Amino acid sequence: MNDKELVEKIIELKKKKNAVILVHSYQRQEIHPVADFIGDSLALAREAAKTDADMIVFCGVDFMAESAKILSPKKKVILPSADAKCPMAMMANGDSLRKMKKKYPEAVVITYINSSAEVKAESDVVCTSANAVDIVEFYKEKKIIFTPDKHLGSYCKEVTGADIVLWDGYCYVHDEFSIGDIYIAKHEHPNCVLLVHPESPKDVLEIADFIGSTSQITRFVEENIGKLEDNEGFIIGTEVEIGNALQKKYPKERIYNLADHAVCTQMKRTTLDKVYNALLNEETEIFVDDDIRIKALKALDTMLELSEKFGSK
Ligand code: 13P
Ligand code: SF4
Repeated sequence: MNDKELVEKIIELKKKKNAVILVHSYQRQEIHPVADFIGDSLALAREAAKTDADMIVFCGVDFMAESAKILSPKKKVILPSADAKCPMAMMANGDSLRKMKKKYPEAVVITYINSSAEVKAESDVVCTSANAVDIVEFYKEKKIIFTPDKHLGSYCKEVTGADIVLWDGYCYVHDEFSIGDIYIAKHEHPNCVLLVHPESPKDVLEIADFIGSTSQITRFVEENIGKLEDNEGFIIGTEVEIGNALQKKYPKERIYNLADHAVCTQMKRTTLDKVYNALLNEETEIFVDDDIRIKALKALDTMLELSEKFGSK
């Protein structure tokens, strides 16, 4: 089947099975025509919590589908590519977090959504890159253990002044951004503002003009396009799909990716073919043990409540 036929078949199956297709914005653009919703981790968690579909097909990586199952346990949650696993989420586990909690028994545990259900279950609250600063700010009178992303944790520490014990995890896609990348991009594309994701290293964040989650970066570009002086533009420091999608939507604007190496290969494992097979065969289904699920749900619900309170988006 070609892509057009696949899209038609997927839409037909989706209706028949009362399924919703949630798509992270780092996914291949071939998936976009079948998406019910495209967004960042926070927006997708909100969609997963409120959907009334019978089935959620999650085009993203393992921890996203797992979070959807925790938030919507009665729905069938399907991850089209079983091997789409986020390496950062594997950098923390329940045992090592329990050890850390013993060392700092008074600390609040704030865990980035890019983590396993077991690690979420050991945490007081979850956060995403869109609400991490707000959530850390809320708990900043206490000592905080922040897992697993050391760069996001260190950024929150910098902004809020909170007393944070950092975990040693990172996202290889953003961790590889360097001052050299910025030097080259700024040289090749002068008069551009630099926007970067907070999963990036400290020296890169220090030079950025704007720091935000994937949807905050997209929103910044869309809100500022009309305000640009002649020849000004944007350099996008996150996974290349964000810059590519903006370039496609605004072909006359100067929008560039900070570096072509910023590709999340795990996110790219999902293809239109796999989405079709996933819907057809209802595979791979995600399960989370009830004892872990109930504790992890508490941490996710606390995040969703605090995000509403602060208007995080
Ligand atoms: P956001 O979707 O929160 O911006 O995070 C990016 C990411 O790396 C997802 O895996
Ligand atoms: Fe994990 Fe980074 Fe890929 Fe996001 S971009 S899924 S954090 S490896």
